[in-house]
Amino acid sequence: MQVYAWCSCGYSSTQPLCDGSHKITYLPNPHKLRPVRYIPDKDMEVWLCNCKQTRNRPFCDGTHKLLREKTKDELLFED
Ligand code: FES
Repeated sequence: MQVYAWCSCGYSSTQPLCDGSHKITYLPNPHKLRPVRYIPDKDMEVWLCNCKQTRNRPFCDGTHKLLREKTKDELLFED
């Protein structure tokens, strides 16, 4: 059985998986930003979140698209 540890802090250099950086990086709330274990129940392709804003950790829920749209809007109103 393969066990994966999804990075929830965003500091891992092996995204989207945890490399232990959450232990050495200063984080405001280290207890909240721990890796999320994921054990697939069968051999299948999954989409893991890379923007860390998903509400369905560790899976992508499409939130990154909203972030991208917000960035576009912000760019439109920049001087
Ligand atoms: S490096 Fe991000 S949760 Fe471990």
